Amino acid sequence: MARIDSPEELAKLRQEVVSHRDPDAPRVSVCAGTGCLASGASQVVAAVKTEIERQGLQAAVESRGTGCHGFCERGPIIVIDPEEICYLQVTPDDVPEIISRTLKDKQVVERLLYVDPAAGEKVTRESDIPFYKHQQRLVFGPNRKIDPKNIEDYLAIGGYRALARALFEMSPEQVIEEVKRANLRGRGGAGFPTGIKWEAARNAPGEPKYVVVNCDEGDPGAYMDRSLMEGNPYSVLEGLIIGAYAIGANEGFVYIRQEYPLAVENLGVAIERAEEHGLLGPDILGSGFDFEVKVHRGAGAFVCGEETALLMSLEGVAGEPRPRPPYPAVKGLWGRPTNINNVETWATVPLIINRGAAAFASIGTEGSKGTKIFSLVGKITNTGLVEVPMGITLRDIVFNIGGGIPGGKKFKAVQTGGPSGGCIPEDQLDLKVDFDELTRAGSMMGSGGMIVMDQDTCMVDVARYFINFLTDESCGKCLPCREGLRQMHSILTKITEGKGKEGDIELLEQLSEVAREASLCALGKTAPNPFLSTFRYFKGEYEAHIKDRRCPALSCKALISYYIDPEKCTACLLCLKRCPDNAIDGGKKKIHIIDQDRCTNCGTCFDVCPSHFDAVRKISGEPVPPPIPEDRRTVVKKGKRGAGQ
Ligand SMILES: Cc1cc2nc3c(=O)[nH]c(=O)nc-3n(C[C@H](O)[C@H](O)[C@H](O)COP(=O)(O)O)c2cc1C
Ligand code: FES
Repeated sequence: MARIDSPEELAKLRQEVVSHRDPDAPRVSVCAGTGCLASGASQVVAAVKTEIERQGLQAAVESRGTGCHGFCERGPIIVIDPEEICYLQVTPDDVPEIISRTLKDKQVVERLLYVDPAAGEKVTRESDIPFYKHQQRLVFGPNRKIDPKNIEDYLAIGGYRALARALFEMSPEQVIEEVKRANLRGRGGAGFPTGIKWEAARNAPGEPKYVVVNCDEGDPGAYMDRSLMEGNPYSVLEGLIIGAYAIGANEGFVYIRQEYPLAVENLGVAIERAEEHGLLGPDILGSGFDFEVKVHRGAGAFVCGEETALLMSLEGVAGEPRPRPPYPAVKGLWGRPTNINNVETWATVPLIINRGAAAFASIGTEGSKGTKIFSLVGKITNTGLVEVPMGITLRDIVFNIGGGIPGGKKFKAVQTGGPSGGCIPEDQLDLKVDFDELTRAGSMMGSGGMIVMDQDTCMVDVARYFINFLTDESCGKCLPCREGLRQMHSILTKITEGKGKEGDIELLEQLSEVAREASLCALGKTAPNPFLSTFRYFKGEYEAHIKDRRCPALSCKALISYYIDPEKCTACLLCLKRCPDNAIDGGKKKIHIIDQDRCTNCGTCFDVCPSHFDAVRKISGEPVPPPIPEDRRTVVKKGKRGAGQ
């Protein structure tokens, strides 16, 4: 592959590429992101290639496996362009029909289309599906257009144009100024202004300088960075090279967690291809600027996402945070000025250089510009990755994009900001999603995890769960975090077990304050958030657990009981057969009774009782009614009881 030695050569190559990889030409794109691969996408990709050849269409239409399209819930996904026909949950068996009917006969395979649950109508075009319609996919959108193993696809959609512009038309200071004017804030957690950080690293004394991509992504339920790195590593690299030029760094690192094998693989390919083309390495594009990048695999410790711990880990020592200041911009990797940004932050940079700061800053709110990718998971109909303009309301994300709560259940809260974020209740659903609003509401943007919870979620248990996660992930270096979180977890566990006592809340508040004030890094400083936010909005649930020994969400095992309503039991034997503890007494035509001493509250009886009988009751904070007397346990007829009734 020939080197590209000038912006003119880059433009020429782009023209050549477009002649055989035209992004607007007829194309079948199959999502080959990790989510779709898990549901069989590689067989679909292979079937599409085979079938196109078998039906003699290879000259007319091209096919490619791409990165994640976002609607992972409904994978494997196929999109046929230019019509943008979107097929969901495709199997290899569907492929011959798709190729013959849609590509040859120009007809739609109706059964593979999205069905709008509200209107019951089928939706053909991808961008008309409600999940996509309310999004603005500027950073994530190209994922579905490119094969991540093929740099030509990235070049064809304008890739590396921003790099050429930065290197040949802008000074490093002008690049920094542009990023500052765009008011880009870091997408990794704290939302610090990117341009200001770059400027600090550029102005800091000391050589060499380094740039780092943070792809540690340890938040439970979050996979935005992984999907971006898997689907479009080129955009991350392009942003990184532009940043390196602006800061004055000739060496960079991508810190990526070991558990992301496809992202590591695709990133490796992207680096190789970029080096072959002279887009990485010495004298990039003939500009005289040299930059090389190395990949470092993290071992999966959550704390290693924290920038100073990450740098320690990169240096080859234990990944423990160090006190700031000095900030990495001044004293980072091996004591040298280092700029570290999140994957999404880097991937947004080419967009700013291409479109200009003003265009970027025209999207979003006063304090938060551009778009943000969220992973929308939990009790939500449409699980997936969504990219939305800053300032969109939580209600829009949960209901218009996410499709609301499945099973007719009620929305209870949405947890944003990762494990040390907070839970936002229903009456705040109209909150505008931006860095400052989320912080004001007691949560935070974090890196973009969004976990939706329904009426069955106990908020005390949610706090216990996240504090448990953070206790496990605390590096143990500082006492308030190491011991304080352990104590908080122990108190919360007791509360969920019905062993809470007066004074527990005050103690939790004190421990929170100490962790916030005295912890070494943001892990400990923000760790009390799950407790503080759930207590702020769901105080009644804490009181019910402690004072009444009651779990209002009927979720905490130690505080609930099950019994069978004798009026509704038809003695169908289902629960009796499935109870793993043999705790149900009954028989054919004999009303079933749960032996409370043997019952372990596993809930199997509740789950298996058919909804049209609805005989198993789940209660909390009230006594279980006494069992029905033996002489009245015969079911005579549906709904009728034996003697005495
Ligand atoms: C415990 C902890 C974990 C973090 N994990 C990540 C992570 O996985 N990815 C990330 O980009 N930032 C993470 N951060 C934030 C980083 O410390 C840092 O602020 C970020 O990488 C800076 O990039 P940005 O300015 O582009 O957001 C974490 C912070 C803390 C305290
Ligand atoms: S992995 Fe296919 S849509 Fe996300």
